[in-house]
Amino acid sequence: MLSFFSRLKWLRKSKKVQNNKIKEEKSKDSSRTSDATNSNSQAKISSASFYNNGRRFQAYKDCAYILPNDDAEIDRLHLQHWIVKNVVGRNYSSPIEAELQKGIKVLDAGCGGGTWILEMANAYPNSEFTGIDVSSTWPTEIRPHNCNFVVGNIVHELPFEENSFDFIYMRLVGMGVPNEQYPTVLSHLYKALKPGGWIELVEIDGEQVYRGKRTTKFWNAVLQYLEMRGFKEGIVKDLDHKVVDAGFVNIDGMRIRIPVGSWGGKLGEVFLEDIVGAYKSLRPVVQPILNYSDADYQELLDNLPTENNEVKQEVNWFCNWAQKPAN
Ligand SMILES: C[S@@+](CC[C@H](N)C(=O)[O-])C[C@H]1O[C@@H](n2cnc3c(N)ncnc32)[C@H](O)[C@@H]1O
Repeated sequence: MLSFFSRLKWLRKSKKVQNNKIKEEKSKDSSRTSDATNSNSQAKISSASFYNNGRRFQAYKDCAYILPNDDAEIDRLHLQHWIVKNVVGRNYSSPIEAELQKGIKVLDAGCGGGTWILEMANAYPNSEFTGIDVSSTWPTEIRPHNCNFVVGNIVHELPFEENSFDFIYMRLVGMGVPNEQYPTVLSHLYKALKPGGWIELVEIDGEQVYRGKRTTKFWNAVLQYLEMRGFKEGIVKDLDHKVVDAGFVNIDGMRIRIPVGSWGGKLGEVFLEDIVGAYKSLRPVVQPILNYSDADYQELLDNLPTENNEVKQEVNWFCNWAQKPAN
């Protein structure tokens, strides 16, 4: 088993290779859409996408999600997964270990490149795992026998029978599910869950605690872009209340605070890397709103480490788990 920091070394190495691939990306066309497999991408993708300034974004019908779906972003999500897992010390908090060992049906809603679900499928070979996402960035060939994926928008009806799953996990879909649509998504997930089944939700508060002026300006531009994409509110607020309102019971939860920057030790340094990656991912859509030149945007990135250390920046993560009533 690789340690957390060995995995980081491996990720950094693979990131270098993938960044080179991105540099090779010729297309600057922000309007072209494609349903075809993209040969420039390591992760084959069959869902609709378009390019904006060298980054690939999802173009799934009626999906507002704003982050890219290319290799660099998937790589960032892998890194982020290891950070959160390292902080929490596990992959889930719902009380379902014995059931997972025995064999249950699990859904990962907004599964991304599949880091969480692939790891879970390997850890629990008797259970059956399904991932759903608007972007098909998961591995297509090498994957565990008990793991399948479906393309779909979770804001619409889910392509599953009622009472299909024993456990539903949903992490970080806040930039693709407007706050006001979150209850609709929860009602779909409620239906798809078996009576007595568990749901677990993890979201990040993008507003960040103790922000410096650069972060504030950047975040305001993100909010402006989210508004342009039809979000009234860009982040998931009151997750626990939404879970109760959706009819779930036995709710429990926790808040995790992760430092950003070297003031927070090795963890802070690695999380800063993740945050800078997110700034790079959002560059094509946020830079025009900020009216920044390339040099201005680079200056913003270069100054983040100092600014974050000055204000001792932290980011809040919210995790809630709850049960569908047994009858
Ligand atoms: C930040 S990533 C998180 C991926 C994964 N859950 C993780 O924690 O690593 C958000 C994912 O949610 C997906 N997503 C966002 N909105 C969605 C929607 N309305 N329907 C389906 N997938 C969505 C995105 O395509 C993306 O892969």
